[in-house]
Amino acid sequence: MLCVAITGIGRLCCHATRFDTMPFPGPVASENILAAACIPRARMNLDKTNSRVQRMFGEIAPKYDRMNHLLSLNVDRYWRWRTVRLVPPRGAAPILDVCTGTGDLAFAFHRRSRGQAPVIGADFCKEMLAIGEAKKQRRGIRDDLSFIAADSQNLPFPDNQFQIVSVAFGLRNIADTDQGLREMARVCQPDGQVAILEFSMPRWQPFKGLYGWYFRHVLPRLGQLLARNREEAYSYLPDSVGEFPSGDALAQRMRQAGLQHVRFQPLTLGIATLYMGTK
Ligand SMILES: C[S@@+](CC[C@H](N)C(=O)[O-])C[C@H]1O[C@@H](n2cnc3c(N)ncnc32)[C@H](O)[C@@H]1O
Repeated sequence: MLCVAITGIGRLCCHATRFDTMPFPGPVASENILAAACIPRARMNLDKTNSRVQRMFGEIAPKYDRMNHLLSLNVDRYWRWRTVRLVPPRGAAPILDVCTGTGDLAFAFHRRSRGQAPVIGADFCKEMLAIGEAKKQRRGIRDDLSFIAADSQNLPFPDNQFQIVSVAFGLRNIADTDQGLREMARVCQPDGQVAILEFSMPRWQPFKGLYGWYFRHVLPRLGQLLARNREEAYSYLPDSVGEFPSGDALAQRMRQAGLQHVRFQPLTLGIATLYMGTK
């Protein structure tokens, strides 16, 4: 991979490609926007190969932010806001947000650190990164926030570099969850924090039932309508709710990846959960 120096943080990056050097992934069969809106998947036969995930997000990138905010009624903004408060930056060591997509969590960390800590957003989908880069330009943010193209299963950074390594609604999309977790832990500094924001299912009635109904019957139709998508949403969405490990199960996977003091906090009645671990 191409060696690239990124101003201020280039020394961290030993073999990353800038997103604008990534090959264009090409056309893709229609994929539903709800996948991008981070709905967990249940079908064990879902194709999560890199090429398929890259193409899928490449296709929906232009609608991604709008749909996310719309379908979550803007609650996704609150979740990222909460994440950077529960895992606050300290000092000048850099922060890495993997599967950064259009960069919203990276922006939140950047805001929170007030320019003290350089922030890198990494993703392997060029189109998602391009939206993030455009937002960065519009906001007049300089080189203390950078986007790079990188596979989260093989991060182009030496060990022990980042005070915080985060991922929001991305771990579930990584083909090999445990490899993704190991890489996050590897590049995190000793005593640094790994933060994982991911969808989960509420556990308490009556909200569990109500949300399950909304999730199964309303959200897919809404997403399909708004994104002018075909019927794929129906085919996997209802099954997908419980597939990805959540709660203790994901906490245990984090421990297996080498993290300690693993804890998690349900957000918004358990629709999402923030997992935190210390290296
Ligand atoms: C649902 S989006 C989440 C984006 C963003 N973190 C957010 O909170 O909105 C998932 C992102 O994960 C990225 N992704 C999935 N697997 C990846 C991998 N192995 N390496 C890098 N990025 C990956 C996709 O390209 C996509 O941009």
